[in-house]
Amino acid sequence: MAELPLTFIRSPYEPLLIDHAEGAWLYGPGGRKILDAAAGAVVVNIGQGREEIARLIAEEVRRVNYIVPLWSTPERQRLVERLARWTPPGLKRFFFTSGGSEAVEAALKFAIMYHKLNGRPQRRKIIAREASYHGNTIAALSVGGSLRRADYEHVLLDWPKIKPSYCYRCPWGKTYPGCDIDCASALEEAIGREGEDSIAAFIAEPMMGSAGGAVPPVKEYWPRLSEICNRHGVLLIADEVMTSFGRTGRRFAVDHWDVRPDILVGGKGLTGGYLPMGMIAVQERLVEECEAKGADFMFYTYSSHPTACAVADRVLEIMEREHLVERSAEMGARLGAELKEELSGHPMVGDIRGAGLFWGVEMVRDRASREPYPPAMKVASKVVAAGLKRGLFVYPATGMARPGGDAVMVTPPFVISKDEIEYIVRTLRATLDDVHPSLQ
Ligand SMILES: Cc1ncc(COP(=O)(O)O)c(C=O)c1O
Repeated sequence: MAELPLTFIRSPYEPLLIDHAEGAWLYGPGGRKILDAAAGAVVVNIGQGREEIARLIAEEVRRVNYIVPLWSTPERQRLVERLARWTPPGLKRFFFTSGGSEAVEAALKFAIMYHKLNGRPQRRKIIAREASYHGNTIAALSVGGSLRRADYEHVLLDWPKIKPSYCYRCPWGKTYPGCDIDCASALEEAIGREGEDSIAAFIAEPMMGSAGGAVPPVKEYWPRLSEICNRHGVLLIADEVMTSFGRTGRRFAVDHWDVRPDILVGGKGLTGGYLPMGMIAVQERLVEECEAKGADFMFYTYSSHPTACAVADRVLEIMEREHLVERSAEMGARLGAELKEELSGHPMVGDIRGAGLFWGVEMVRDRASREPYPPAMKVASKVVAAGLKRGLFVYPATGMARPGGDAVMVTPPFVISKDEIEYIVRTLRATLDDVHPSLQ
């Protein structure tokens, strides 16, 4: 473990000093170059170093650097109008935050408040999934199912969890197709067990991120979840903090199945890392119902920060102008094919899965039995550290095997080139070759 001076954050790898960045590349002292195949924390979708955004930020800060979120700016108006064209039908009312965790909090609070205002205050539990990450505040950790809960278990809200859709290690021991999509039925069972009248909402990541290692579900899963929620009056919250704005090759991951959640949570790619920002998009009908009952939504100080709004609007405009969602689908198909070709025979590699530029490589001790490495071996951290030595950053993730389970995510910026994809795959292969002998 290495510590960066005067912070709380300890890096399990080298504590790098990054001097500047361009596209998908990070540059350090002494000419050191690292290809950031993780896009930071799956954030930098449009790539680093955009002069156009640097200029925009300078202009915006000069013009108006802060107003209370009760008021608006032309940039904020433009952003909500643009967002309304991006989001799935009906998701036309927005609330902005400083990041993903705050946005998840806002979504959970909206669901609880919605039921209370409609005379159902007993609907206050949120069903979530094991193997999930929804952020780092107390409520966001409560709906999460990751190792990051460990030091806070004793104070977290005791809300129900169901097992996720995860074919490589099906919790029901079945094989798709031909299974009964028990992963979706699990939601109905949980609602029945807890009592429909006690449930405010169900929250899940449409494709599992860091707590699973980029895992798309089977195609029937989300439509069924949506139907179950509808039937039981449970609000459906899609946490797309990681998957939104093109990451999985569609604007939103729920677009793969034409699902319309009641609340969609976004962040990360919304501003591509140029400024901090998160958001929720809520079905207009639900907000109107709350407003008719006199709802008072408290803002955060930095909700709708004018410069962040201007940046988000410009980032989405760049995505449109450069067709970056389409590019994510196209380059993602290439990345997936090359990862499979180059790595699927590797003795450490158990599963390779993903969509768009959202790929996960799960590592196992034994490919036949799918036995994971013991957690104490910290295999994902070792692979990330060895990758950095070779000039590649991939994102550490947890495979869903319990205990243990190691994966890395390969989620480069959408501006990644064919040659850079080849570099990523070749370097990851060499990195696994470096690490494998030390694990015997
Ligand atoms: C699915 C998901 N939800 C919420 C969060 C929390 O977002 P933030 O770290 O911006 O608070 C993350 C962060 O990785 C995430 O992946």
